[in-house]
Amino acid sequence: MATLLEREFIFVTGKGGVGKTTVAGALGLAAAAQGRRTVVCEVGDQHRLSRVFGVSPPSPDREAQLAPGLWTTSIEPDAVLRHWLEVQLHSRALVALLSRTPVFVYFIAAVPGAREVVTLAQAWNLAQPERWGDKQAGYDTVIVDAPASGHALGMLRTPRTFGDIARVGTIRRQADRVRALVTDPERAAYVTVALPEEMPVTETLELETQLEEEVGMGPAAIVANGLLSQRFSAAELEQLGETTPNGGPPELEAALDAARLQGNRARAQQGQLRRLRRGARAPVLTLPQLLDGELDPDGLEQLARELERKL
Ligand SMILES: Nc1ncnc2c1ncn2[C@@H]1O[C@H](COP(=O)(O)OP(=O)(O)O)[C@@H](O)[C@H]1O
Ligand SMILES: [Mg+2]
Repeated sequence: MATLLEREFIFVTGKGGVGKTTVAGALGLAAAAQGRRTVVCEVGDQHRLSRVFGVSPPSPDREAQLAPGLWTTSIEPDAVLRHWLEVQLHSRALVALLSRTPVFVYFIAAVPGAREVVTLAQAWNLAQPERWGDKQAGYDTVIVDAPASGHALGMLRTPRTFGDIARVGTIRRQADRVRALVTDPERAAYVTVALPEEMPVTETLELETQLEEEVGMGPAAIVANGLLSQRFSAAELEQLGETTPNGGPPELEAALDAARLQGNRARAQQGQLRRLRRGARAPVLTLPQLLDGELDPDGLEQLARELERKL
């Protein structure tokens, strides 16, 4: 079985704000460090990673290079759908004309999953030796920074639903190819990202089951992100809880409060991490909470090294 970083297609899923883009970027650096030409696709025009690396954002037909061996691109589903139709119909003018007709609007808006199929097809296309509409070489690894988990599951479910509706033609072939890829454990893998907190852990355990049921494979790894360091032992925390400064400076009270808060949060995280590990079938890896503030390339490198050690 191919190891995670050897898969062609890595799908990073999880609730918004848990660190999906961060983990996708760190996985990208780790794959690139193994000599794989890697691209991280953000779905929706976010351009987060190009901002973190301080490079110009990608354009629809050109990925932005972030580091040696690592590129990023954004997939904007409506734009991809339009481009895809242009390629299929061999005519930009025709698509522009069709865009003004109700049939086109119907096609885009009413056929469930059209956006999702073309989004996945676009990601799939990035890995092809010869890509649609251009002659650039394909990537070895495509990492998709998927939308929030509900939507991502819809996206993975879609090739089946959509393929069932579109029984013939190029769309059907596209949907079939995408489905073959996203359900092939040799080529595709899912990584779910969670914060070690009560609700996110519950949702991550549910997502694991949903992935198994709907895609036929669970996550290859679950990343528990943002782990606080455990600065105090249980005995020290207890001691901290009992300490009251007698007439000391106010700074002492503030420092004690901060220490208790950090200590209690770290302890609560460890409890949720144990719950996640007990309930999950996939291996659970942890990433530390780096110092506050916006993540920079050095921080991402640090997280990439952690992932490499733990994968
Ligand atoms: N391990 C970490 N250490 C420090 N900051 C982090 C870490 N993971 C994520 N962040 C920060 O948390 C915020 C949300 O992360 P992001 O990757 O954008 O989440 P998502 O893509 O899931 O919405 C960002 O500001 C990011 O820089
Ligand atoms: Mg994100």
